[in-house]
Amino acid sequence: MSAPRARLGVLVSGSGSNLQALLDACAQEGFPAEVACVVSNVPTAFALERARKAGVPAVVVDHKAHASKADFEKALLAALRDAGVEWVCLAGFMRLLSADFLGHYAGRVLNIHPSLLPSFPGLHAQRQALERGVKIAGCTVHFVDAGTDTGPIIAQAAVPVLPEDDEKSLSARILTEEHRLYPLAVGLAVTGKVALDGARTRVDAQTTVGESSLRSPGAPRS
Ligand code: GRF
Repeated sequence: MSAPRARLGVLVSGSGSNLQALLDACAQEGFPAEVACVVSNVPTAFALERARKAGVPAVVVDHKAHASKADFEKALLAALRDAGVEWVCLAGFMRLLSADFLGHYAGRVLNIHPSLLPSFPGLHAQRQALERGVKIAGCTVHFVDAGTDTGPIIAQAAVPVLPEDDEKSLSARILTEEHRLYPLAVGLAVTGKVALDGARTRVDAQTTVGESSLRSPGAPRS
């Protein structure tokens, strides 16, 4: 009998292309996780449509409808608990989570960020990279702590920065890698292949995690 799949709660605020990559990975036989619910703090987020289309419960917890951050996070936790969520994946979620919230899912909250951390945390990472003139950019999946994009790094993917790049073209190149990297990192984390070691992680990536999620960079999507 195959192991039960880890139940993911994906938190979103916008387009949800990384959510889509996770939904697609979860739809593959053998992938060790399923999306149990999607929660958006923005009622109009397109990510909610993606969830509904995939038959996944889509919940709005609007931060503006709550008097305090504590109340907002309480509602968020309730939505995740109602759906039996075991792991939380931030996918373009534009709110900072408190240490108190994170304590409820200790070591089980992941984020994807469009830079090679620790360079360029925070907003407009791709613009920051262009302004600084780096020649290599990329994306990072990391555990979430109470800082801004400061948690232990699980996996990274690099892309070149081309002389003619603008924010749009660089973001698109990075996003392609994000869609490959996030399912890979989630698969590793939920199967216990990622061990926290202080501020770092030790990753056993020798194992296959679902058919198409473990591919070398640049390999075509199936
Ligand atoms: C991605 O670039 C992600 O790295 C960042 O926010 C963006 C979200 O894009 N955290 P999408 O909503 O997944 O398309």
